Amino acid sequence: MSLTRWAFASTLVTLFSASAFVPQHSRSKSHHGSAATTHLYMSAALIVQNKGGGHGELGFQLAKVLSDNDKITSVTILQDDACKDSAEPFQSYATDLPDVKVVKASLGDESMTATALQDILGKDAAFDYVWDNASKSPKGAGQAICDLAKAWNVKLFTYVSSAGMYQPTADAPFPMPETTPIKESAGQNQFDQYAIQQGLPLVTFRPQYIYGPKANKHDYIDWYFDRLVRELPLPIPGDGTQKLSLTNAEDVASLLAAPLNDEAAAIAQRVFNCGTDQLVSYDEVAYLCAEAAGIDKDKVMIEHYDADMFGKATFPFRMTDFYVAPDTAKEKLGWSGPLHSLKDDLQSFYYESYVARGGPTKKMSLIKDWEITVGSKTSLPEYGSSIYDKFDPIILEVPAAPAE
Ligand SMILES: *[C@@H]1O[C@H](CO)[C@@H](O)[C@H](O)[C@H]1NC(C)=O
Repeated sequence: MSLTRWAFASTLVTLFSASAFVPQHSRSKSHHGSAATTHLYMSAALIVQNKGGGHGELGFQLAKVLSDNDKITSVTILQDDACKDSAEPFQSYATDLPDVKVVKASLGDESMTATALQDILGKDAAFDYVWDNASKSPKGAGQAICDLAKAWNVKLFTYVSSAGMYQPTADAPFPMPETTPIKESAGQNQFDQYAIQQGLPLVTFRPQYIYGPKANKHDYIDWYFDRLVRELPLPIPGDGTQKLSLTNAEDVASLLAAPLNDEAAAIAQRVFNCGTDQLVSYDEVAYLCAEAAGIDKDKVMIEHYDADMFGKATFPFRMTDFYVAPDTAKEKLGWSGPLHSLKDDLQSFYYESYVARGGPTKKMSLIKDWEITVGSKTSLPEYGSSIYDKFDPIILEVPAAPAE
């Protein structure tokens, strides 16, 4: 063992013994301090949250869910300090999560060590449960989190990974099971491997597309509204029957907390797909959005195009089927399923928020849409005028029809 490795290992030993003597009451939520509400045990939860907030609100929603969970007596968010405090969900941390402690740190810092991170959290801080929605690889802060979790002897280490690491073969079954081949080189896989090597009680979730009331990432669903409200065609690759799991962040959060229902089963299974069980097709999303925006079904102009010829262009989802279902989580963790549906959410808040963000009036490039819509037609428009001209005046250089 090299000297630096030895020094690091001994630091961990010190951390471990320090945390082992943290008096249990110092981990409890203040309002649970009275004798009448004493729990059989105290359990402190730590959410490690990336600068985007987890699409951007997983950490926020998870903190809410955990605050209401009987097993958890205190919740701390370790927030990457590169987040934008004036944006959602960060601006709601103080008002909506009054009992949650928020600690900031440079989680993108490759030179972050376990010792430095422990100091930031407080010398005596120790946690029983960790949810990590920040570490991109087992380096810097990522490694530090794992090493601290080990020193704290956590009961569960839940990692929020991504279904994006799946590499389904041509004949793969859908929804993709947890056994689907993955991109071995992905940082998130390396993180999983490091956590396993360290002997952490790892549970790793692979979520897919997420939206929610406090999200700061809207491009998936906005893609549909951007075209619908402008009365423009929607270029959708293939035949539009490809399925999709689009999940409300509140439902993702309840799924991320589900390992608390059966910790042993969660650790034994280790990998869980994460998303709603209400799958929708690419075309269905268009009709649901139209309905929410009060647009007639027959005004929806879907332009199915040959994905081999034009590629993905601006379409926000994959060209082919790529979706997961939460069957394993339901079976092994007793997750009761989503409480939200895309249809209701589009009507109750999403369309309104799209308008409030200036969606219908913002400037946008439509050149790719134009290429596909015009190019996938067998004949060019006769006079070179296009449905796009009123928004993005591309003057079509269509050769004049030969004189007859
Ligand atoms: C956090 O959650 C989001 C939403 O699923 C995801 O995109 C991101 O990769 C997650 N994990 C990490 C480690 O940042």
